[in-house]
Amino acid sequence: MKKSLLFCLFIFISLTACDKKATTSQSITKEVFGKISESETADIFTLKNAAGMEVKITNYGGIITSWTAPDRNGKYENINLGYDNLADYQKSSPYFGALIGRFGNRIANGKFTLDGKTYSLAINNKPNTLHGGKKGFDKVLWTATPIEGEEPALKLTYLSKDGEEGYPGNLTVEVVYTLTKDNALKMDYKATTDKATVINLTNHAYFNLTGNPDNTILDHEIMIHADKYLPVSSTLIPTGKLEDVKGTPFDFTKSEKIGARINDTTNVQIKNGGGYDHCWVFSENGQKMQSLITLYEPTSGRVMEVQSSEPAVQFYSGNFLVTTPKKGTEMFKKRAGLCLETQHFPDSPNQANFPTTVLRPNEEYKSSTVYRFGIR
Ligand code: BGC
Repeated sequence: MKKSLLFCLFIFISLTACDKKATTSQSITKEVFGKISESETADIFTLKNAAGMEVKITNYGGIITSWTAPDRNGKYENINLGYDNLADYQKSSPYFGALIGRFGNRIANGKFTLDGKTYSLAINNKPNTLHGGKKGFDKVLWTATPIEGEEPALKLTYLSKDGEEGYPGNLTVEVVYTLTKDNALKMDYKATTDKATVINLTNHAYFNLTGNPDNTILDHEIMIHADKYLPVSSTLIPTGKLEDVKGTPFDFTKSEKIGARINDTTNVQIKNGGGYDHCWVFSENGQKMQSLITLYEPTSGRVMEVQSSEPAVQFYSGNFLVTTPKKGTEMFKKRAGLCLETQHFPDSPNQANFPTTVLRPNEEYKSSTVYRFGIR
């Protein structure tokens, strides 16, 4: 009797100790990242889970500045391109790790008509508008609320005023980044408006699963569960057609090296994108979560799976990175990172046959994306 009592006590103490360990190893902490103006300071939050994954996010642009993932030997390394200081983000960043809005991707000639009224947007990617304009959501200060728990999260909110960057309606936006215990980062987006507007939110993280941006992403292998993509013009505006990937360098229905066909400029679409800079189409209504993409890096064994409720993903193979400063006078390598931006189709406000991106008062915009890491 005594023995069994002692045994029960031992089990109880061990379980309590385990529990303590589990609840103390994940965390969210806050530090100052830098000054934006006399009255505005950007903070940086470090989210850690019990497995050891660490994600740093600043409320300037909702930018993920670093993100570690384990290789097949359990070594955690940064798989996300970025800078270690605010000034470099303000000066040179090609949207590294940032939240993109109000409208991700391009709108042709920076113009669209909604309910009979034509709106003019900033042309920041001649002749088009790109990623929300001159001062998109990647360059504004979000209000941050850390959420502690087994799966630490950071809630970011922002009010985009009526007329900001030319878009109609006061848009209230909320994005929650959650670091899960199984090494995934979940992004949940919500928005409401007081006037009809257009919206297409995403995140612009650049991944390099080798953990070293001195390597290119050309030997990463990618599988994209889509049999259609959107061909584009020479200024990267969709032609309006949905084209079969079959028989083209855009067919990743079977896992294939990114570098295998990326320079095949006999394909006019590869030529237009300078490599891959296109939207793959998964479904046309985009409501429920589905598994879209698997990215694998053979030397480290890292695997990343992308799931989303969005109907498309812009796969951008970092073709223009060579013009982006890294440190001092050093530049990033061409294709040192790749983006998998979950979204609605580019230029939707001008293309009636694309799924709508219009948000009206009394409606709620909702979107979720998960990037989950594992090894092979
Ligand atoms: C676009 C590219 C652009 C890059 C950085 C991507 O989302 O598709 O064309 O160069 O963002 O601005």
